[in-house]
Amino acid sequence: MIKNFCHTPVLLRESIESLRIGPLSDYADCTLGGGGHSEMIAELIGEGRYLHCFDRDIAAINAGKSRLSRFEEKIIYHHKPFSSLGAELPQQALGGILYDLGVSSHQIDATDRGFSFTGTEPLDMRMDASCGENAQEYLKRISEAELAKILRENSDLEMAGRLAKRILSGTLHSEKITATNLNAAIEEVYSKRKEDLNSLKARVFQAIRMEVNSEIAEIKKSVEAAVHCLKSGGRLCIITYHSKEARAVKETLSVFEKNCLCDSRLPVCVCGGNNKKIRKVNKETVKPNAAELRTNSRSRSAVLRVYERV
Ligand SMILES: C[S@@+](CC[C@H](N)C(=O)[O-])C[C@H]1O[C@@H](n2cnc3c(N)ncnc32)[C@H](O)[C@@H]1O
Repeated sequence: MIKNFCHTPVLLRESIESLRIGPLSDYADCTLGGGGHSEMIAELIGEGRYLHCFDRDIAAINAGKSRLSRFEEKIIYHHKPFSSLGAELPQQALGGILYDLGVSSHQIDATDRGFSFTGTEPLDMRMDASCGENAQEYLKRISEAELAKILRENSDLEMAGRLAKRILSGTLHSEKITATNLNAAIEEVYSKRKEDLNSLKARVFQAIRMEVNSEIAEIKKSVEAAVHCLKSGGRLCIITYHSKEARAVKETLSVFEKNCLCDSRLPVCVCGGNNKKIRKVNKETVKPNAAELRTNSRSRSAVLRVYERV
């Protein structure tokens, strides 16, 4: 358990500049976390404008309310999954939307949440601990084949079958599943591997966490809604931390980057050819500079993509 909500914002200057915050629009931060990005957005938005902050973790919402109390009149908090963006906000209402995906340092550092490698509580891993199935319940429900598939597909893990068997068989299956005994399983299965054990553990934890929180489905639904919530010229800034997140973002948005949506086998366009809703702002993705990489190891894998509503 840790009390203070500590999280160093990643790609802060780059993402805030990319949002191009103007005085006449409302904005949304879909991943409030420690409030680092929200604080900068709230500083910059115009008089009488609103920042909508989403987080499914009540600890993030409460910490945000306290840290950002001086912006009380400007911020509307949504303790909801960000897939509810389209239901919460009207279409073409926002000047910019930010996503800084994944988990916060606070969630990882809290030993009772199940995101860290230590802990003897039943494994939880829910970002919103008030609803849904926790990681222990999830692991006890699924089959060995299903677990192997998610370890392979979510985190490209080798020996996924053997690890799934070790996690779900014997003592682990009947006892409570904790971070500590999940770790023991990982250490045993990968004992002969040269690869850094901590990085393997991070990938195993990530693969399970992604399922417990339906992370890819959340991204797809929310990012699609985000396109519709933006006004013309509005910016969509998305920071991803691994290839599956990035793929979900790119695939969801690629449909909105095209003018023509016709089947490529048709000889002529019949859809009107006027469907393009967003354009990429930068040819290249934006990554943390050397100074940020030196001071914040959690920025290592961060990639920022910026789109603009046409
Ligand atoms: C990397 S942190 C954001 C950090 C924040 N930008 C900052 O600088 O402090 C990601 C946050 O997004 C939240 N989150 C992740 N997926 C979510 C979802 N589908 N719906 C709502 N919140 C989500 C997590 O609970 C976490 O607090």
